Amino acid sequence: MPELYKMLNDSSAEVRVQLALQLSAQPGADAMKAVLTLLKKGGSPLLNDAITSGLRGRELEFLQALLAEPAGKTDTLVTSGLVQVLANCITTERKAARVSGLLEVVAAQAPNSPRQLALLNGMAGTPLDKKAKAQPRKLLYLEAQPAALTALSTKLAGNKAAKTLLTTVDKALAWPGKPGVPPPPVVKPLTADQQAQFEKGKLIYAGLCAACHQPGGTGLEGLAPPVVDSEWVTGPVDRPARIIMHGLSGPVTVSGRTWHLEMPPLPHLTDDDIANVLTYMRREWDHTASPVSAKEINAIRTANAGRTKAWTADDLKTPLKPAAKEAPKAASR
Ligand code: HEC
Repeated sequence: MPELYKMLNDSSAEVRVQLALQLSAQPGADAMKAVLTLLKKGGSPLLNDAITSGLRGRELEFLQALLAEPAGKTDTLVTSGLVQVLANCITTERKAARVSGLLEVVAAQAPNSPRQLALLNGMAGTPLDKKAKAQPRKLLYLEAQPAALTALSTKLAGNKAAKTLLTTVDKALAWPGKPGVPPPPVVKPLTADQQAQFEKGKLIYAGLCAACHQPGGTGLEGLAPPVVDSEWVTGPVDRPARIIMHGLSGPVTVSGRTWHLEMPPLPHLTDDDIANVLTYMRREWDHTASPVSAKEINAIRTANAGRTKAWTADDLKTPLKPAAKEAPKAASR
């Protein structure tokens, strides 16, 4: 660690990005202070990306620690975009308790201050790039009406811009009894066995799929499409199962965007592995699709025995025929 701290004065932008990545992955106040030192030497979108990847899952705690620092004349935390980026990350993660916690942080800032506006912009999903279009957020169900939100709307009543942002934030949140909000979807809870499958599937996802589809399931430009809110993940099970067994050859449209890539087959995964990883992906990220059994996967495998070619999206949309009818055809391919 001390070697890392010595490098803080390195003026090269690349070194600073590398340092930010490593330092933000360390818990503790020293690492946080060091990240702050880096920011003071000049922030950049790359530096912010490095910090958020290092933090993954600890953004709220880090943000709280950062905001305890006095703002000073030019507030690097705001001007570098970091505060907005972190608030956006926390909101995008869609964990009700964390989002409620973030609202409290917003309410604790001086009304209409640059920090408060940056936080609200992050929560509202305002892109840092002024030319980009804001993506509307999906409704997130909180356990109860957040007191911080009510307090904010009183405090910001006189500030038009802040009030507009707050309205955007409010629109994406729901709680029991909020007028005009549909009740949350009723999801059949997983049985203990299915929950065990989910946990095993989570490990497979992290160890294998995340390399391309990214740990948060968001996909990455030029590498792989998102699996969050993907109709291929939450739709008929035979589609993702066949993609995993035999691969997928682009183009493929996912949530309205077309990708021209190739996914290699993963033939070493067993029926259990595939059932587990799909059970995980169909329930993580607010997905509410049914869990998957190894038996279902085995039937899909049998129906496609002998297949070596990767699927195309069009192939996959043709419903899978029962094993008995499909077998001879599959064998002759
Ligand atoms: C080497 C990178 C790579 C790995 C590893 C990988 N994928 Fe993919 N995956 C891709 C690419 C690239 C596509 C899109 C191919 C195309 O354009 O047709 C894709 C497409 C998909 C799709 C359909 C489109 C979508 O985004 O929903 C699913 C579902 C999917 N992969 C699931 C998985 C699962 C589950 C795993 C792990 C068991 C996995 N992938 C591992 C690269 C990968």
